Amino acid sequence: MARQAVKHRDVDWDFADLGMKETQASTHFFHHWTAKFIPQIPRRLIEMYARPGDVVLDPFMGCGTTLVEAARLGHDTWGTDINPLAVKIARAKTAGIRHKVVGEFIEWLDEAAGRPERHLARSRHLFDGSDEWFREDVARAIKAILNRARRLGGNTRNFVEVGLSDLLKGMSNARMDRTMPTLPDSPRYRDKKHYHRPVDNDTREVNVFARVRAQLRRMEHALREFRDEATGSAAPVQHDARRLCSLGRTAQVAITSPPYWSAQNYQKLHSLSFRTLGLKEPGRAEIGRRAHDYLPDMGSVVEQLTQVLDGYFALVIGESQDGIHEAVRDQCLSAGMRLVDTSTRRLSNQAFFAKAVKRELVYVFACSR
Ligand SMILES: C[S@@+](CC[C@H](N)C(=O)[O-])C[C@H]1O[C@@H](n2cnc3c(N)ncnc32)[C@H](O)[C@@H]1O
Repeated sequence: MARQAVKHRDVDWDFADLGMKETQASTHFFHHWTAKFIPQIPRRLIEMYARPGDVVLDPFMGCGTTLVEAARLGHDTWGTDINPLAVKIARAKTAGIRHKVVGEFIEWLDEAAGRPERHLARSRHLFDGSDEWFREDVARAIKAILNRARRLGGNTRNFVEVGLSDLLKGMSNARMDRTMPTLPDSPRYRDKKHYHRPVDNDTREVNVFARVRAQLRRMEHALREFRDEATGSAAPVQHDARRLCSLGRTAQVAITSPPYWSAQNYQKLHSLSFRTLGLKEPGRAEIGRRAHDYLPDMGSVVEQLTQVLDGYFALVIGESQDGIHEAVRDQCLSAGMRLVDTSTRRLSNQAFFAKAVKRELVYVFACSR
């Protein structure tokens, strides 16, 4: 079994001084994902609990933060998420691509950015109702990029789609000051989040080709560095964590932050990406949609973990008034795990949760099959 080198109380878990440079390092900036880990948390837990050669698992991997850090630290790693967009992002952040082909794609975007009108697709249709969300020139440029990306196939196509997806909301008519995609009452409005800046959706500059080019350039560079550095392999899988065992994989260290009961609706938050990329929504398989299923669902995941894991399980969970964090901790104990350490962290650098959840608990259990 892995060894815990340092007691939790001897280290600072708040990471309050970190800026974007640190939290968005490596491939972590590829795509936003609500309630994602700051990478320093899984990194520290891996350093504390994993021995060389240990496999690291994240059953609720989201956009793959744990997988990126585990692979960077030399561990083979796998993760599951029910959400197809999460899996696409985790794959884009870790999987090898054809760099030459992406380079050529970027050259094409460069040319198209200089003369957008020549490169627009004929159709502006992205999904039913997309005309409301995207101005015609914007929609036709997005369509042109998607059409061209379709020819690439595999991880390379996925990489380009993820780069585009991250920019969709900012290029759409959605209000800039809302996290959830929301259309303004009028094309002209004040963006309350950014100093009451006036916005005019009919006339504002949106060079889709230039924006995607800049994003892909950064991503390509970061992925190259990640692949040079990461000696571990990463396998993000679209799968239900309540059925972990059916994958036939095992691990020595699991690190996760579970979905919170009714805290987010990832499908709505990412609805523009889902619809533009034609992804199937996970619907009820997503844990947290219905309050009364939350604890039974989490109980199933914990039970499955005891069958695939032989080592340590780190559970990073928001402190809630209704004591859900303690209920999940108790499920782990009832499943035969042994609590080896606990710490509390203040959520100063996570904008979304700082509002609803002030503190997070990091519970670490020893778990043997
Ligand atoms: C708090 S987020 C995890 C974020 C992650 N730590 C990261 O850094 O991106 C919880 C995740 O659980 C996923 N999830 C919800 N129900 C699931 C299920 N039944 N099986 C697997 N994943 C699920 C959600 O899609 C979401 O991405």
